[in-house]
Amino acid sequence: MNAKISFEGNEYEFPVVEGSEKEFGIDISKLRGTTGGLITLDRGFKNTGSCESAITFLNGEEGILRYRGYSIEELAEKGSFLEVAYLLIFGELPTKTELEKFHKDIKAESHVDEEMKKILDGFPKSAHPMGVVSSLTSALIAFNPSSVNVESEEDMYNAIVKLLAKFPVICSWALRKSKGHPLDYGDNSLGYVENVLKMMFKKPNEDYKIDPVIASALNKLLILHADHEQNCSTSTVRIVGSSHAGLFASISAGVSALWGPLHGGANQAVIDMLEGIKADGGDTKKYMAKAKDKEDPFRLMGFGHRVYKNFDPRAKIIKKSADEVLGNLGVEDPVLDIAKGLEKEALEDDYFVKRKLYPNVDFYSGIIYRALGIPTNMFTVMFALGRLPGWIAQWREMRLKKEPIGRPRQIYTGENLREMKDIDNR
Ligand code: CMC
Repeated sequence: MNAKISFEGNEYEFPVVEGSEKEFGIDISKLRGTTGGLITLDRGFKNTGSCESAITFLNGEEGILRYRGYSIEELAEKGSFLEVAYLLIFGELPTKTELEKFHKDIKAESHVDEEMKKILDGFPKSAHPMGVVSSLTSALIAFNPSSVNVESEEDMYNAIVKLLAKFPVICSWALRKSKGHPLDYGDNSLGYVENVLKMMFKKPNEDYKIDPVIASALNKLLILHADHEQNCSTSTVRIVGSSHAGLFASISAGVSALWGPLHGGANQAVIDMLEGIKADGGDTKKYMAKAKDKEDPFRLMGFGHRVYKNFDPRAKIIKKSADEVLGNLGVEDPVLDIAKGLEKEALEDDYFVKRKLYPNVDFYSGIIYRALGIPTNMFTVMFALGRLPGWIAQWREMRLKKEPIGRPRQIYTGENLREMKDIDNR
């Protein structure tokens, strides 16, 4: 199968690559060479496939999301976060023995060098946890300096395990620092998700009892966030890693990319928005009008998606889970009603219908995080915790496939050659 491009009277043919779900892409890797300089221009990469990947399948028109062929609905219903992490990274669901070994290896690495505390001490208490997490992830390189030999399966495995072990410690430290709580290393007798909760919430003078409703809700949220193919932060991880920068450096860059309000930062922005609407009297119609007004920079946060032009399947699961979790915990949150009101109005509104804008993963997730006792400025950190296996899986796939360094081209639109005038004559 080929596709033809004609330019200045010449015709060129390029092979078309077919994916396992009948998706097609024109392979233009020889475009520049054969045409003598022609490139493609695709702002925001809306039509550009940067790689072939066997990890996550997403069909935005039909609202389908699958990790390694398993539907997100089934994984969220039956899976544990750690087995989903294993699935994403290594390609198959683990056996019982494989999962036990994986967890045991992670536990063996779940300490963070005491000297990392000095770096954390340098941050003000008011620092945003995402900035702290990104910096500390990068700082981990100094304490784990040997670079990963990607030719060695063992080396690769050890680096992955280290990161899965230490990242939650760092995330919980960011929270504890902001609350003024002493740092905690968790408890290796607990499950991965339960340990995350304990590291975050244990007070120095009290036991921390794991609430199964909270642990199960967090498990589900982490699974739902675990991968989403070539999104902004994942593409960042791949492109940084493509220069053969180390795994920790690549992930630290991914955390920074995730922070933005158009990406993972939207979960915090949604709650801030809903709180703002509540404080302003709860008039959802006023905010709907603002979202539609092109002169107004306000956007309905948690709505719209680059790829989903239908319901984000994660949002459907999360909305149901929000009702269950709040009900089980006996939490009443007035912003849940505001969110449901906004959703109803948007789904019936011409502006949103025409542009195929539906609630995304971030629309209801913040309401659950809040019910679990997680502060608003930690929401995006929770997203990062969930996305970590996806970033690792994508980085591993990219390195194993020996992908070339990522280096896009551009169309230059600046000045033509000119002479540098003496400073007195400018
Ligand atoms: N509120 C109002 N209008 C919107 C919204 C919104 N949330 N999202 C898109 N639009 C409009 C946009 O103004 C444009 O209108 P027009 O065609 O008249 O110019 C049209 O819909 C297409 O939007 P776009 O910005 O060109 O689409 P995009 O694919 O570049 O952006 C997006 C996708 C997610 C950045 C955008 O929908 C948005 O800003 N949403 C709010 C932020 C948000 O919730 N982000 C989380 C994404 S899901 C988590 C993750 O990153 O994985």
